[in-house]
Amino acid sequence: MTELNPESYVQSNEMKMPVVGLGTWQATEEQIETALNIAIDAGYRHIDTAFVYMNEPAIGKALKKFFDCGKIKREELFIVTKLPNIANDAKYVEEYLKRSLSSLQLDYVDLYLIHHPVGLVNGDDLLPRHENGKVKIDVNTDHVAIWKAMEAQVNASRTKSIGLSNFNIKQIEKILKSARIPPANIQVELHVYCQQKELRDFCNKNNITVCAYAPLGSPNLTQFTEVLGGDSSRIPKLSPLLDPVVLRIAEAHEKTPAQVLLRHLLQLGLAVIPKSANPDRIRQNFQVFDFQLTENDMSELNALDKGKDGKMFTIGLLNGIELHPEYPG
Ligand SMILES: NC(=O)c1ccc[n+]([C@@H]2O[C@H](COP(=O)([O-])OP(=O)(O)OC[C@H]3O[C@@H](n4cnc5c(N)ncnc54)[C@H](OP(=O)(O)O)[C@@H]3O)[C@@H](O)[C@H]2O)c1
Repeated sequence: MTELNPESYVQSNEMKMPVVGLGTWQATEEQIETALNIAIDAGYRHIDTAFVYMNEPAIGKALKKFFDCGKIKREELFIVTKLPNIANDAKYVEEYLKRSLSSLQLDYVDLYLIHHPVGLVNGDDLLPRHENGKVKIDVNTDHVAIWKAMEAQVNASRTKSIGLSNFNIKQIEKILKSARIPPANIQVELHVYCQQKELRDFCNKNNITVCAYAPLGSPNLTQFTEVLGGDSSRIPKLSPLLDPVVLRIAEAHEKTPAQVLLRHLLQLGLAVIPKSANPDRIRQNFQVFDFQLTENDMSELNALDKGKDGKMFTIGLLNGIELHPEYPG
């Protein structure tokens, strides 16, 4: 294993993604500036956001402040955002990327992802629902056509690279077959209970880097789903941060459970984007370069994989997406 350090990155052709990024889903407008300020001071150079997180304007405001005062330069940061489900149509790609760039006050992002393979009906509502609570799906989603529009964004210099999120192997294969610019990255749920071995192997063979979302197991997911009126009953009651094996390994290395969970994924060759809005935890989540898990630790952590049963991001908030022909399963 090459030595991991705060400047380490995962690479696909031209794209170099710093291995630890700051997740920003559920970070509120009031929290963003402080969180980013602390993260940059701690060493983070990668920020993950999305149109649907509704915090791009706050991120843009904070970044502008940092650039204007010379705290950091644009080219030192790796900024990721995503095309929302409601814009999963070739005709919306440019418009939605431009909207994100305008909110972020940027000329380009480093990586633009298709957030999800399922398309929802376009409109102002990010979560359009029928009266029965099911989301309004747009069954005409055409991944190959969307990808062509994504490629055009690279040519227009609005994004340096493009990728996918939440796609399965079959869906990625279809894009690879017709791509002029292959996906540089895929962002998927990936943590100790849901290790995505098959997808990782496939991506390795195809020079696609993998970024792990919910690397700590997204401990706030159930509560968040309930607050937004989603169905939390299908979210497994699993807490990687409380797993006895994780706790034992953490104690042996005098590190926290979160640091062990993140380090495990880094040693598997992945990028991770833990979210925190808490100053101590933001710093803690970047302090993962001063220890190394042994082969034995890695084997024990690898053995905690529960495959599909470990997946926390089930239908939850998007009740009804399972009816879409591109529901990744
Ligand atoms: N592409 C997609 O579909 C998708 C889906 C989900 C997430 N994401 C991205 O991935 C990022 C991470 O995923 P996530 O936010 O769902 O889950 P996560 O990073 O696994 O967990 C975040 C939660 O853990 C808490 N936390 C953070 N550091 C901690 C620590 N050291 N010890 C104990 N608790 C800690 C946070 O609370 P505090 O803030 O209070 O610290 C927050 O509630 C998101 O923010 C988003 O950028 C992408």
